[in-house]
Amino acid sequence: MVVGLQFGDEGKGRVVDLLAGGYDVVARYQGGANAGHTVVAMGRKFVFHLLPSGMLYPGKLCVVGNGVVLDPEQFFRELEELGPERAEVLVSGCAHVVMPYHKVLDALEEEAKERRIGTTRRGIGPAYADKHGRSGIRVYDLCDERGFAEKLRPILELKNRVIERVYGGRPLSFEEVYEPYADYGRRLKPFVGDASSAILEALRGGRRVLFEGAQGVMLDVDVGTYPYVTSSSTTSAGACVGTGVPPTAVGRVIGVVKAYATRVGEGPFPTELEGDLGEHLRRVGHEYGATTGRPRRCGWLDLVALKYAVEVSGAEALAITKLDVLKGLEEIRVCVAYVDAGGTRRERFVPETGFLSQVKPVYRSFKGWDEDLSGCRKLEDLPSAAREYVEFLASQLGAEVLMVGVGASREETILCSSWR
Ligand code: IMP
Repeated sequence: MVVGLQFGDEGKGRVVDLLAGGYDVVARYQGGANAGHTVVAMGRKFVFHLLPSGMLYPGKLCVVGNGVVLDPEQFFRELEELGPERAEVLVSGCAHVVMPYHKVLDALEEEAKERRIGTTRRGIGPAYADKHGRSGIRVYDLCDERGFAEKLRPILELKNRVIERVYGGRPLSFEEVYEPYADYGRRLKPFVGDASSAILEALRGGRRVLFEGAQGVMLDVDVGTYPYVTSSSTTSAGACVGTGVPPTAVGRVIGVVKAYATRVGEGPFPTELEGDLGEHLRRVGHEYGATTGRPRRCGWLDLVALKYAVEVSGAEALAITKLDVLKGLEEIRVCVAYVDAGGTRRERFVPETGFLSQVKPVYRSFKGWDEDLSGCRKLEDLPSAAREYVEFLASQLGAEVLMVGVGASREETILCSSWR
């Protein structure tokens, strides 16, 4: 299982793409088209928002699990962009559909809020709210043409009342929603099935399954920095609920951590760098949202938060990405503790925005390096300062290093002996 240990954008896509070659099934279990998983392979850049990052492997099966909220428009756009050389796709009939009114409401709710979340406006929050409020439309419903019309009519009426009367927005006509979505339902049918059974059967048959998380632990709706989170369970536990497999089915959890920290959207970020250094990381690391294009907030690595993320996700192995971005810095800092408003040193993370917005980071300083890392293929190839940084992270997080990213392409990777 691959899980992001920060605020998303850790580079899970490239890790899954690399790992996928050794697996038979790759399954996404939560989130929707709010994700932006970038893979650079075969001289091309692919950005997956909804489809699993294992899609580049013909012969594999990629699953969109029941915990995902599916935007059909995005689904077909990504399939089209990939062309015929791709993995097979199975979509869980139990996945909920992101409807046009979810996107409208996502934007209207954000505009109306005094304290915005900074959502991606992909309809994610409203779609999950309907799922849990039991007024959602599932993929199965979408594929049942008659039933879909009957389900949609009263739901749309209610949504329109909210859009119009609460927010003063433009209501959506039945036809403008029904016609294209009934068509999506028809087109989706060949991809739809019982994804949970398919994964369980694969496991029973001794095949290897890779669960692909989206976003990161800090954006988890329960254990993240609520309310500045996404609306799904982004930790490893979410994989079971989001694909319909028991916790006993899960083997190793791989935590993905970028060599520095970024956050897109609002919410506390104790190690944020607002000056030139932050700008430098943004520029060198191309830190702009893969989904929205928004500039990402950049900062130093936060070990207090990372230790918590490792604990709640059960990560035993680390994939460290973008180490190359730190090249050329005289000093690299890592937050090893916080000091709270009363001056007390705090070493344990508390997922509470009041606490996180008043703490100040305590840093440990590391020497930087000037060498280009892109040719390194073993940990021993790294300059000693870079190696020291990686070893410090691994020892503090109590996890073995599986891989280190030293450039954007598949090849620019250090694979450690624990790989596979
Ligand atoms: P939503 O998921 O669109 O509702 O957005 C909620 C919060 O999660 C916002 O701060 C988003 O910027 C953030 N977010 C959602 N998806 C991602 C992602 O894939 N990477 C990074 N941040 C994300």
